[in-house]
Amino acid sequence: MSKQRVLTGITTTGTPHLGNYVGAIRPAIQASQRADVQSFYFLADFHALIKCQEPDLVHQSTREIAATWLALGLDVNNAIFYRQSDVPEIPELCWVLTCMAAKGLMNRAHAYKASVDVNVANGDDPDFGITMGLYSYPILMAADILMFNANKVPVGRDQIQHIEMARDIAGRFNHHYGEHFVLPEALVEESSAILQGLDGRKMSKSYGNTIPLFLPEKQLKKSINKILTNLLEPGQAKDPDTSPVFQIWQAFATPAQTADMRQQFADGIGWGEAKRQLFELVNGQLAEARDKYEALLANPAHIEEVLQQGAEKARAYSKPLLEKVREAVGIRKIK
Ligand code: TRP
Repeated sequence: MSKQRVLTGITTTGTPHLGNYVGAIRPAIQASQRADVQSFYFLADFHALIKCQEPDLVHQSTREIAATWLALGLDVNNAIFYRQSDVPEIPELCWVLTCMAAKGLMNRAHAYKASVDVNVANGDDPDFGITMGLYSYPILMAADILMFNANKVPVGRDQIQHIEMARDIAGRFNHHYGEHFVLPEALVEESSAILQGLDGRKMSKSYGNTIPLFLPEKQLKKSINKILTNLLEPGQAKDPDTSPVFQIWQAFATPAQTADMRQQFADGIGWGEAKRQLFELVNGQLAEARDKYEALLANPAHIEEVLQQGAEKARAYSKPLLEKVREAVGIRKIK
């Protein structure tokens, strides 16, 4: 039996933070080590253009995300790690699928509807500032997934609808042109933590409450010191379950360390001391990877080479599939 295929994309906007690490990167790297799974991880730089029209930011983010995954030990012999824009079959498939995707389906996409709602609330034209890129983004995502006949797609909850749309588009294509695509399933890790940020809300770039993953040591310490606490003094018992300090601790600690910290909260550990311990724990787990990350960023040619090798492996799948798709839709050599 062929291996189960797991695929996920990372949009190249922004710098990876602790929330990305705990919720997505760490589980993905672990999953990529499984012998019964073929994983495909890619830098979704075409998707980045939907959200970010600053060339230098898109480029910098691509470099940082690639370096992050490599520094954290992604095994590129086992996983196929590539940049979306290095696989020209993806945008081509995207067009073919665009001609199979119902406009009404796209009208229902949450991400697009949210932008319309904001416009309406502001009294603007409903289409104000909405590009066709945003509107048809679920089709590009379907192309990413169907191109490699992925079975499972690990995503956050906000992306489930897009996977359903990919299934819908694949089903329609298969029905009309014959079986070409596997119907993918979303994989939402119930157990994977959604980390709280500095202010206690979900850690997210859009809230400006993140702790970047590879901050230099001193800045990591400073950032941890900014995590929201209450006014309880040392000696007063504290509630671990409402504290972002404890929640971040839990995401990095062993069960025994978590139980110990829970006890320390009950015993009235001071916030300064709790944060000092949190810094030690997080820093201890990231220090080695941070050195690798710095070394990788100092050697961009190496990153580029790894991505080119990844693209070559990815194209060993995408080229033959696209040939079949072209044949199926009637785009053929004249003979
Ligand atoms: N849209 C996804 C996100 O914002 C990223 C992404 C792009 C993706 N293409 C994908 C995820 C394909 C899974 C599969 O998180």
